[in-house]
Amino acid sequence: MNVNVSVLGAQAKRNAIVARTLKWWDRNRRELAWRASPGETPDPYRVWLSEVLLQQTTAQAATPYYQVFIAKWPTVEDLAAAPHEAVISAFAGLGYYSRARNLHACAKEIARRGGRFPSEEAELRALPGVGAYTAAAIAAIAFGGHAAPVDGNVARILARLLALDEPIAQARSAIAAAARALAPRKRPGDFAQALMDIGATICRPRNPECSACPLSEDCAALRSGAPQAYPRRAAAKARPRRRGAVFLARRTDGAFLARRRPPRGLLASTVELPGTPWTSEGPGGAWLDAAPVAARWLRLPGVVEQVFTHFELTLTVYVALVEGGAPDGCFWVSPDGVGEAGFSNVMRKAVARALRAR
Ligand code: ADE
Repeated sequence: MNVNVSVLGAQAKRNAIVARTLKWWDRNRRELAWRASPGETPDPYRVWLSEVLLQQTTAQAATPYYQVFIAKWPTVEDLAAAPHEAVISAFAGLGYYSRARNLHACAKEIARRGGRFPSEEAELRALPGVGAYTAAAIAAIAFGGHAAPVDGNVARILARLLALDEPIAQARSAIAAAARALAPRKRPGDFAQALMDIGATICRPRNPECSACPLSEDCAALRSGAPQAYPRRAAAKARPRRRGAVFLARRTDGAFLARRRPPRGLLASTVELPGTPWTSEGPGGAWLDAAPVAARWLRLPGVVEQVFTHFELTLTVYVALVEGGAPDGCFWVSPDGVGEAGFSNVMRKAVARALRAR
């Protein structure tokens, strides 16, 4: 056992930490749309769906998406049978679109197996879009398996509990070992969800509310006097900047031109405004060559910005009033339909910017 993990001490100490955590959860658990009530058997489809939607976002942001998915597709078979573009559109705005593709592929795979999710972590891990964290979360929450999911929140809690001196990225194996050492055989799913709730509501990145925390008496970061100094920060990653332009071509009735991105690559299959490629060199004076139709294009002041994992994007927005039909590959979107059209977040920002300028 790693030095820090050994701080968790004997089994009796770990049992006490688990007991305090579960007691706290029984009184303070968040009511979340996908959660089974106490005593109710969890539905693996709902657990899987919620965990996929929750990847890299908060419960608050994921909840409306979850509700739309469950209303449209109450079972995994319904989701499997849905048109691919409907799934992509329902997911749009929630993050990376390979995740939406994998979500649909996974539903189809489960439907092919008669609608039953596997219960073992290793088998879950082999499904499209199910990584180590998601597999462990489903195994523990849906099936009561002895698994220890570690997401960003859980990693932060454990980095503080153990006052780890390395940033999370370098401490992954110590954190995973601590999670495994703590995971109880009884109520592993409740324990995992308790840590998620503590991470979201108490052991927050900034201003942790240690006085309300069931782990406070065991927390080495709190004992150090500066809990917020943990996890140690990694040096900020410098992202390259890419630039491009988008064109909102509007008819007098308000409808504007959009197109669907290719099914592979960044923001795959989402809807976008026609525009230039995004490059580090920027326009070189030729942006208007990428306009979908000839028109008197007006460049709006300011830009739209979006941070992606590997680069930061700055988009310039052009608007024009146009007449005539949609060019090849484009279609009309009415301003009332923007919410359901399947635009990505960055494109929603660009559309909002352009429509505000009218
Ligand atoms: N974040 C990821 N999974 C979660 C869950 N099941 N409950 C609350 N927050 C979560």
